[in-house]
Amino acid sequence: MQKIPHTPTPNAGAMRGMNALASTAREPTAPTAAPVSPDTARLRHFVQQLAALVESAPPEPELLERGGALLGALVAHDDWLPAAYAQPSPERYQQFLLHADALGRFSVVSFVWGPGQATPIHDHTVWGLIGMLRGAEDSQAYARTADGRWAPAGAPHRLQPGQVEAVSPTIGDVHRVSNAVDGQTSISIHVYGANIGAVQRSVYLEDGTRKPFISGYSNSTLPNIWDLSRNPAPSA
Ligand SMILES: [Fe+2]
Repeated sequence: MQKIPHTPTPNAGAMRGMNALASTAREPTAPTAAPVSPDTARLRHFVQQLAALVESAPPEPELLERGGALLGALVAHDDWLPAAYAQPSPERYQQFLLHADALGRFSVVSFVWGPGQATPIHDHTVWGLIGMLRGAEDSQAYARTADGRWAPAGAPHRLQPGQVEAVSPTIGDVHRVSNAVDGQTSISIHVYGANIGAVQRSVYLEDGTRKPFISGYSNSTLPNIWDLSRNPAPSA
């Protein structure tokens, strides 16, 4: 697991590896705030920029750095996520697919936490970027011990709105994440180097037990980010 170099850009959120990095969060928005008129052009712009970045096939550290800056710019504003993809469920945390690359090179999801919800210890198997949009979440990295168990690695850290962190098998891929805001919904935007809902992954118990899983998605329709007549360009 390693820290990722980060040069802040004027319109980008701060970047973190799974190990905490010094960063500056934007002002939090009310966890229950819903955009009045979703500016979905922001998501389209992000998808277009990310597709171009992935197409250029940079080394992973550069991909995470540049992709993290793009995601930071996206989560620097909380006015673009349609309400349908921001709804918590009392049953479990929700993972809404927002966009899937036609060639399976990346996917973008909104991860919606209800109050008190948390993941099990899990891996991703591919690179991932997590940008905090609304509320906050806590992430605890885990490392395998010599006897095959999983133990917390380092201190947990809190992701605040506007901040971005990265995971991957090369920098640290196993963690447990939870909603950090009591009694309220939190939302983070995730980007992964695959169609993440179809990826064979694992959850772990601290005793070392491994359980394979494929997450799927919580939604059956996607936001229409391609109607240029309605929303021609991202606003500032
Ligand atoms: Fe995760």
